[in-house]
Amino acid sequence: MMPELAPTVRELLAFYLEAGVDCALVEEPVDRLAEADAPPPVTRVAPPVETPRPVAAPAVIRGEAAPAPDVAIATAREAARTAPTLEALRELMQNFDGCALKNTATRLVFADGNPRARIMFVGEAPGRDEDIEGLPFVGRSGKLLDHMIGAIGLNRTTAYIANVIPWRPPGNRTPTPQETQICLPFIQRQIELVNPDVLVTLGNPSTQTLLSTREGIMRTRGRWFDYDTGARMIRALPTFHPAYLLRSPAYKRLAWQDLRAIAKALALS
Ligand code: URA
Repeated sequence: MMPELAPTVRELLAFYLEAGVDCALVEEPVDRLAEADAPPPVTRVAPPVETPRPVAAPAVIRGEAAPAPDVAIATAREAARTAPTLEALRELMQNFDGCALKNTATRLVFADGNPRARIMFVGEAPGRDEDIEGLPFVGRSGKLLDHMIGAIGLNRTTAYIANVIPWRPPGNRTPTPQETQICLPFIQRQIELVNPDVLVTLGNPSTQTLLSTREGIMRTRGRWFDYDTGARMIRALPTFHPAYLLRSPAYKRLAWQDLRAIAKALALS
């Protein structure tokens, strides 16, 4: 039998990155509860791009103990309601400390695309590439999303793209129901401010959260829903998440049907 070759350091690092481990810890244990506002002692494998954090008064005060989830949800709801513009909403989210995901993410991933677009796509949460760049859907699944919307003549100058959760969950884990509920008022306000003619929910979590359904994506995809912003009804269509299509390319055929339905709806509305 051939002896197995030991992996190289580069191969090991690639393996860890793939598994979602993208922070190297220091040698000694760190008491993070003793830290106040000190920067976390982590070395990122990919260097973060510095984005200065605004110093405006936060909705939930930074440095104080994290609020109870119901307090954070109520605060998010109240704050989001009062944001008059997308820029104000972005700033408010930058300053919001009620969601613990913000502490482990590198930066806020607010949105990409044209805020005046007639179509808005909403995914689940940023991954590693999005966390580094600060833009949604820029990794592998983002490339596929670009191809998908390109097939019906759209691109990031004619579409708007965001996520239900604007901070990367550590190691790309699934956001908890509480984290989702805390972030929900923000994406709801974002949809209301963009006010698209067509809303496309990408994958199960986004569909179930925004369209208040418990049905799975196999049943909901390709079916039109009404999304009520409070001011207007928007036509909403769930389709497969591009990450799912990368794993299960056989479903691209159905995704193509959904894209054609979207193109038709845009032509008619
Ligand atoms: N998956 C998502 O749901 N959103 C992103 O921005 C990237 C991957």
